[in-house]
Amino acid sequence: MARSDPRFVCQTCGASRPRWAGKCDACGAWNSIAEETPREAAPKGLGKGKGRALDFVDLAGAQGAVARHLSGMSELDRVTGSGLVAGSSILLAGDPGIGKSTLLLQAAGALAANGVRAVYISGEEGIEQIRLRADRLGLAEAPVRLAAATSVRDILTSLESAEPADVIVVDSIQTMYLDTLDSAPGTVSQVRGAAQELIRYAKRSGSVLLLVGHVTKEGQIAGPRVLEHMVDAVLYFEGERGHQFRIVRAVKNRFGPTDEIGVFEMTGAGLAEVPNPSTLFLNPERGPVPGAAVFAGIEGTRPVLVEIQALVAPGPPGSPRRTVVGWDSGRLAMVLAVLDARAGLSLGSSDVYLNVAGGLRIGEPAADLAVAAAIVSSYSSRPVPEGTVVFGEIGLSGEVRSVAQGAARLKEAAKLGFSHAIAPKAGGGKKKGEAAPAEISLSAIARIDELIDLLAPAAEAIVADIGVGVGRV
Ligand code: TYD
Ligand code: MG
Repeated sequence: MARSDPRFVCQTCGASRPRWAGKCDACGAWNSIAEETPREAAPKGLGKGKGRALDFVDLAGAQGAVARHLSGMSELDRVTGSGLVAGSSILLAGDPGIGKSTLLLQAAGALAANGVRAVYISGEEGIEQIRLRADRLGLAEAPVRLAAATSVRDILTSLESAEPADVIVVDSIQTMYLDTLDSAPGTVSQVRGAAQELIRYAKRSGSVLLLVGHVTKEGQIAGPRVLEHMVDAVLYFEGERGHQFRIVRAVKNRFGPTDEIGVFEMTGAGLAEVPNPSTLFLNPERGPVPGAAVFAGIEGTRPVLVEIQALVAPGPPGSPRRTVVGWDSGRLAMVLAVLDARAGLSLGSSDVYLNVAGGLRIGEPAADLAVAAAIVSSYSSRPVPEGTVVFGEIGLSGEVRSVAQGAARLKEAAKLGFSHAIAPKAGGGKKKGEAAPAEISLSAIARIDELIDLLAPAAEAIVADIGVGVGRV
């Protein structure tokens, strides 16, 4: 292809094709293909000419530990793996309006208050808007250097000529542009090009680069996924709009653990840290109701107790509804199928709604048993006994499988005043040498039908009442 040939590039996944089309073959997105001028010709190979010989070194270096900047916001420091590593680049991705600018302005303020030289560059808001926000956040006095700019050339020139910065916030990468590229800001080549230049500067100067990235409706980072490969860490900022809880989740981290979460609450004066999230996702005043089960989960290294709610209701014949918020709908279908095939709980003609309280998203298979408990409880109109937590993975043959960190889950439950746990028999929360806390009595079960015996011993009678067949395997 000649150098100036136009290419058509999908703005969602970055795939290029010779002709325009309504739908991208690579990722299936509609209306995402736009014309762009290619930046470079096809690779030509190395040709002749020798390169510079590299000096190989040992894994063990003499320089000691890498420099990390702690923000003092412990929830943020936890997800970044105890602090921001000098020279690294971090992408904070999330829906519009979720609080990305707020979080990073607060982080910049907190870092600056700790003596870290912080720069905040916004391509989305004007200086006055940012000052107003800083005022609301109580950060007006923080020594953060502020600029409103979108040209990467201007930004890099300013950074190089002024006092060096330890942390640079760029809000957002979709507004930045390189004047050497023809395409508009926000297109794949601009996002990629601008990010590359900023990341290169961060590596060269030893500054930490914090990039804000918008997420499209489908949950992808707008622009190319390739951005995820370029940065050292990717943090997702999640939360339901209607809820005040916000969760920062590390999905990639070259310098720390992934799957770690930081929990915040959006208040009138910005994001407040939530050091003990279990208290947020539970509702102790309400008392036991049918259809609610408390799941003892693990998020990263930390146990989190969260309420799982299910509603089983008779639906119109033929097409039962399955609605899931905060969990995987495929996993729900599996739990329902296992309940049907292995425990005789036929829900084929009922609508099933499942909700994880508080806007948390659970990815752990260990929630299977708690989901099953909530469904059985709603179905039988019997509350799960008060003070009970549930965890365990369910296998297709109806077995309840052990899960990791059982003891930590039970310990957290005991700490929050729970007295009973329904847990897998295998391992049962007790690894070798680990005992379940004395305050917790354990119902260790090996099969899913034992759960029904525990929660709804009279389920058969109820089932017979509403005329659904029961057949124990
Ligand atoms: P923002 O940080 O602008 O979101 P993003 O950068 O991800 O688009 O946050 C916007 C929302 O946060 C807005 O709907 C109002 C809310 N908010 C508060 O509730 N309290 C506050 O103190 C601030 C600054 C924002
Ligand atoms: Mg913003």
